[in-house]
Formats: sequence, C-alpha cells, structure tokens
Amino acid sequence: MAKKVVILPGDGIGQEIVPQAVRVMDLLAKEYGIAIETESHLIGGAAYDKTGTPLPKETLAACKAADAVLLGAVGGPKWEGLDYSVRPERGLLGIRKELQLFANLRPAVVFPQLVHASSLKPEVVAGIDVMVVRELTGDIYFGEPRGVTGEGDARRGLNSMVYTAPEIERIARKAFEVARVRSNKLCSVDKANVLECTELWRDVVNEVHADYPDVALSHMYVDNAAMQLVRWPKQFDVIVTGNIFGDILSDEASMLTGSIGMLPSASLGESHAMYEPIHGSAPDIAGKDLANPIATILSVGMMFKYTFGKPEAEQRVEQAVSRVLDAGARTADIATGDETAIGCAEMGDRIVAALGD
Ligand code: IPM
Ligand code: MG
Repeated sequence: MAKKVVILPGDGIGQEIVPQAVRVMDLLAKEYGIAIETESHLIGGAAYDKTGTPLPKETLAACKAADAVLLGAVGGPKWEGLDYSVRPERGLLGIRKELQLFANLRPAVVFPQLVHASSLKPEVVAGIDVMVVRELTGDIYFGEPRGVTGEGDARRGLNSMVYTAPEIERIARKAFEVARVRSNKLCSVDKANVLECTELWRDVVNEVHADYPDVALSHMYVDNAAMQLVRWPKQFDVIVTGNIFGDILSDEASMLTGSIGMLPSASLGESHAMYEPIHGSAPDIAGKDLANPIATILSVGMMFKYTFGKPEAEQRVEQAVSRVLDAGARTADIATGDETAIGCAEMGDRIVAALGD
C-alpha cells in the first residue's frame, strides 16, 4: 500500500524550501522502493488568506489520515495584527495538538565544513552532536487561562504554565529511550528553583529514571543551560525540556551549527508524525531564492528513519549534504569570507545530484 505524505509549504520561504525537500523525498522513495502519494494543503497565513482560518478542516483531516506530514514554515508580518485565534502560528500549534505530536526531536549537529560559520570559536563547536527533546503539546503554549483582559492601565495579560504528571512522564520516557541509543546521558532542563510546574517536571523525570538506571540523568536550570550551551556545548548529549524552554534552547543550539537553516526536526506522537525545519518563514528573504533548504531536506531524512524505518536513508541524506558542503556549496546564511553564495534551488539541485551519484 502506498504511504501518504501531506505537504504543507505554508508561508514565506516555506514555499521555496519544501519543493527542494520533496525532490529528495521522491528520489529516496524510488531508491528504497517505497510508494509515496503526496497531497499538498494550505496552512498558516496562506490558508487564512484563502479560507479565513490558518488550519482549514481539510488540512487537518488530510494530516490525520497521513503517514507523515512535511511542513515548511508559517507566519509573517502581513498577519501580525490578526487576532491570536487566527494567526498563522495557530495553524501549526493546532496540528501539533490535534495530532498529539508531543515529542519534538531537534538534533543540533555541526558539519565539520561549517565549524567556521558558527559565531562561536571553532574549538567550542567542532564535533557538536546534541539532541534536544522538546515537549510540544503542553506548557505555557497551551495552558489555560490565557489572554488579555481590562482596559487602559487595568489591562492584564495572562498565560499559564501547565503540565500534568502523565504529560511529563511520556516525554521523559521518550527522552530516556533516545538517550539509550546514543550516549546514555540525559540532561533535564527546568526552572525548579522558581516555578512549581517545573518542580513537578523534575520530580516526575526522577521517578521515570528508576526504569532507566543505565542512563546517567542530570538536571539543570534553564538559565544555566542557556549559558552552558555557548560556554561548553560538548557536555550535552540529550537534553529534555518543556515546550517554551525547548523552543528557546533549540534556536540557541542551532547557532552552534553555523545557521538556524541547518536544523531539522521530527515531531512524533503515538500514531502521527510531522517533519519540519526548526526555523521560521523568514519573510525578509522570502521569494528571492536565498533560503537554505538543508534543514527541510534533513527533516526528510528523519522521516525515512522514524516513519519509514530506514535509518540508512537518513545517513545518505546527511552524506549528500556533507558532500555538497565539501564541494563548497553555501547558501548565504552559511557562506563566510569570500565564499560565493548559491540559491535555494541550486542547493537543492546539488544535493539531489549528490544523492544520485
Ligand atoms: C518553532 C517555532 C514555533 C514555536 C512558532 C512558529 C509557533 O518557533 O517551531 O520552534 O514556537 O514552536
Ligand atoms: Mg522556535
């Protein structure tokens, strides 16, 4: 039976990077003998403009019926004034919640060719291989009550940080499992010295640890983790944290790799999966063929590993990326010194060619 993949280019550079990633997906599908049927749908601002909602019913239904979803990015200044309920970001958050994609894996790996593209010293970033496991369906992103009430000086803004013990337990289990197939080291990040919600996080992670005694568990406050990530990132292997801290720390971790345009992600639930770069829609460079498609292309590699059970396909994608970097191919975000930058489509061409060799 053919596998179904829903394609959601979304907004801004999503329209440019996703087609390049789809080329890679089609090529790998052929090679590994996987029949894939694709369907494109609207999400984010593009969906709002056409249908009045950032997450049309058809899009959600298609995603629920799919084996995997490939997403570009959502959002842009055009939609910033809209009510929160119809902002492009609501479309993405809605899919994550509806598909129960609670585990977001964000691997920050530095390609040796890009060690000098990082704003940190080469000796600090060389050899970095960190996996951020971000909880994706809870926390202050979804907590109730929320909103702004009152008028004038009486206005009050409120968001609620909420985690239940079962929500923490399932992401902790996932993180321990991920640690087991890596270096058996897990660092849980919280703010348990100030926030009760994250004190519960720490307690539950400790309870789950009893089932994974072979994994070395440490705890770190988020402010310290933010500092340690730039001071001595090699101390980390797997990091597990909540939704908001994971959002922030994964952007920070991406800078170790040279560019946020390099970081893929897999959002996994019990029965659904979505693959997306961690970066946003970059409206400032959208439509100019300047975007880096590598994060989305690496996300396709993750799709083959986690949805299609082909970890070797993920390695092939990484090797192809490595080879084009060896040959000097750089999009603007990773070009340094006198390197000439190539466009998004050409980077796609080169990676497709490297895969075909
Ligand atoms: C991410 C993004 C999203 C998030 C936005 C676009 C809603 O920053 O995937 O990290 O905050 O989760
Ligand atoms: Mg983010």
